[in-house]
Amino acid sequence: MSKFLITGGAGFIGSNYLHYVVNKYPEDNFVCLDALTYAGNYNNIKSLEGKTNYKFIKGDIRDKELVFDLFKEEEFDYVINFAAESHVDNSIKNPNLFADTNILGTMTLLNAVKMMKNEGNHPVKRYHQVSTDEVYGDLPLDRPDLLFTEENPIHTSSPYSASKAGADLQVLAYARTFKLPITISRCSNNYGAYQFPEKLIPVVISKALNDEPIPVYGKGDNVRDWIHVHDHNVGVDLIVRNGREGEIYNLGGHSERTNLEVVKTILKQLGKPESLITFVSDRPGHDRRYAIDSTKVEEELGWDRTYDFDSGMKETIDWYINNQDWIDDIKSGEYKNSYKG
Ligand code: NAD
Ligand code: DAU
Repeated sequence: MSKFLITGGAGFIGSNYLHYVVNKYPEDNFVCLDALTYAGNYNNIKSLEGKTNYKFIKGDIRDKELVFDLFKEEEFDYVINFAAESHVDNSIKNPNLFADTNILGTMTLLNAVKMMKNEGNHPVKRYHQVSTDEVYGDLPLDRPDLLFTEENPIHTSSPYSASKAGADLQVLAYARTFKLPITISRCSNNYGAYQFPEKLIPVVISKALNDEPIPVYGKGDNVRDWIHVHDHNVGVDLIVRNGREGEIYNLGGHSERTNLEVVKTILKQLGKPESLITFVSDRPGHDRRYAIDSTKVEEELGWDRTYDFDSGMKETIDWYINNQDWIDDIKSGEYKNSYKG
């Protein structure tokens, strides 16, 4: 029996992770710590209430007192940090918040892991940082042969990616200086259920369902490598349990699409006209293309994807069609009342 701290578990990827592991590992215990920022939605994890191997704590990873007390009380074996400010457009409007949450929040967790090691009673066996392919910067559109490997240098474009890179560098520094047992995963663009409707895919689905114009930045020719959130989470779980200490692992979807291709796929499935597409001003500093080489995790840990883009997108679009009240609650702000405390 192991005890896990899952931070950011009320967000998109963290909530999918909790649904996966709480059911898969009934012998393990999972504590979710989430500040319930605008992106945290308790509705995503409400159905886990009552599970005997799970509990939720509302709290901020930057709150040193709360975090240190929690570590001493719970004696975690594993820590997985999903908590972050995650939206690039927001980072352009408010860069400081991203440095604060993503770098200093990560450092508070690392300091707690260090404290537990120094006290010697119950050291954390593994700290895992959920990172992103955006730390590698971007690739040119006319070089489809180029992919990011773990050896690529950090080369960030946005305040978001710079803050995630800053966090990764602190994780690596704490590993080397304080000998903390860490791993890092860097994944490409996720899609699936419970994604906050600020990101491309839920924005397009919710607007198309209401016959509203769909904003496509620039020419829509930027390329992302899409992965189903479940495949990402299976990778994180494998890395945390079996990955080599100190290592970085890339996770990618092998499904590169231009934004325009993604938008057209959704419109087609929904039976909506392409005339809804509206080209708007480009995102400042807009990364052109991300593409991930996941050979390392495939060869070392036997990880593979179970979803291909077409079937994964079909399932995802159906989920949003069948859960329009989930989006309506966010639009009305009602979701903020979903946690009663
Ligand atoms: P999200 O924005 O949907 O969720 C983030 C969660 O973190 C929310 O529940 C929020 O309440 C919580 N949070 C934010 N600040 C906090 C704080 N100070 N203390 C405690 N909780 C806090 O994000 P997501 O898309 O689920 O991404 C999760 C992680 O995965 C992030 O670290 C992100 O950088 C990384 N990632 C995301 C993608 C993607 O495509 N979405 C791809 C690769 C990596
Ligand atoms: O690559 C992993 C990253 O993917 C994660 O680290 C980030 O947390 C996550 O937000 C995501 O970043 P992107 O910026 O790629 O995702 P987003 O959904 O915001 O945008 C995807 C692409 O679509 C991007 O090229 C910008 C474009 N876009 C986005 C929105 C919201 C549009 O054209 N119109 C839109 O309305």
